[in-house]
Amino acid sequence: MTARVGILGGGQLGMMLAASLFKLGADVSLYDPDPRSPARHRFASVTTAAWTDRAALARFFAEVDVVTYEFENVDVSVIAEVAGHRVFRPGLSVLTTTQDRLAEKRLCRERGLPHARFEAASSPDELREVGRAFGFPFIVKTARGGYDGKGQARVVDEASLERATAELFADGAARRSLILEELVPFSLEASCIVARDAAGRAEVFPIFENHHEHHVLDWTLVPARLPEPVAETIREIALEAARGMDVVGLLTTELFVAPSAATTGGRVVGEHAVFVNEFAPRPHNSGHVTRTATTLSQFDALARILCDLPLTTPRLVNDGAFVMGNLLGDLWLDRGAARLAFDAWARHPEVLDVMLYGKHEARAGRKMGHFVAHAASPSRAIDAVAAFRRDLSRPVG
Ligand SMILES: Nc1ncnc2c1ncn2[C@@H]1O[C@H](COP(=O)(O)OP(=O)(O)OP(=O)(O)O)[C@@H](O)[C@H]1O
Ligand SMILES: [Mg+2]
Repeated sequence: MTARVGILGGGQLGMMLAASLFKLGADVSLYDPDPRSPARHRFASVTTAAWTDRAALARFFAEVDVVTYEFENVDVSVIAEVAGHRVFRPGLSVLTTTQDRLAEKRLCRERGLPHARFEAASSPDELREVGRAFGFPFIVKTARGGYDGKGQARVVDEASLERATAELFADGAARRSLILEELVPFSLEASCIVARDAAGRAEVFPIFENHHEHHVLDWTLVPARLPEPVAETIREIALEAARGMDVVGLLTTELFVAPSAATTGGRVVGEHAVFVNEFAPRPHNSGHVTRTATTLSQFDALARILCDLPLTTPRLVNDGAFVMGNLLGDLWLDRGAARLAFDAWARHPEVLDVMLYGKHEARAGRKMGHFVAHAASPSRAIDAVAAFRRDLSRPVG
């Protein structure tokens, strides 16, 4: 029987997942409030309605057997109310945890997953008071709704505490759920994707090394430059998290690797300590590298889980290093919003794949697409990211 799959969210993640589902013969319906979402003009079955539109959601759910989500900031109580007996993969309880940074960190505490010391605060006065007792420096984040570093501030002294308080309550709200986290002096950021099927069988993807610029993912390198015992610890943590939350689908764990001598609370492996940063129960930007670098992509893995087809172990398809570079709107703005100089691709045979999401407008920091390159060594792969982007964004004329 043909699987009927519903995807909440019609951005690039939903689009790439839909493409994987089509390969398996599934019927796919997408739901996104944005009439200009990437999926809207590319797929036949897209519902354009608000996340709180119960009637539209109910019609959407009636058309599908299994539901997944590429977007986390939905109101779970509204979804649960109208979803009836629809199966969610991952289940809605996973979403409830991962859409709230405090719930996520509390789960880490309960499950013995290593994490930075944290504290909750919810009013301007409480932020000041808890912040002083917590000790500088720290990061304060809104517990809900943030992404790409939005809704967070670094606090290093009284002056930055005042600035952070003003920023986080700029809309005049009296209360807002906040989390204060100890600043982890990481030497490397990593992510690890676990794919887990309905029978509880799990596959772990190779570990990615991630580099951010201005809080936005800039590139992802695989394999990550980590000693094997650290990589093993990361895989263990990611698996414990996926099993602990009973994830059926994908769970991406973002982690920090820091010097053990300079930190407390991490899982120590020799000179290193590993910390969970956050979880995403869905395909992840860093995982785009798997479209080219591994025998099974994150999207194909999730599609198989949604269609009750078996997983295989994702392995690197080649020696050397693969890198995924994001293409942000800034590149287009550098060219006065003109098309990128794609003739440059001819001079970059190391770039194996380019994916453009078809967003209607380039904005600074907006993810417009990505590419994957392969090179003999990690440093060459990383150099290729800057070189390709520089050529793509050559000034017009
Ligand atoms: N406790 C911390 N210590 C050190 N750096 C941190 C900490 N928390 C966050 N960061 C830095 O800020 C980045 C963004 O933080 P986080 O992943 O929590 O937010 P986000 O907005 O959900 O980002 P994204 O959606 O891109 O994953 C991290 O990747 C890391 O570079
Ligand atoms: Mg993050």
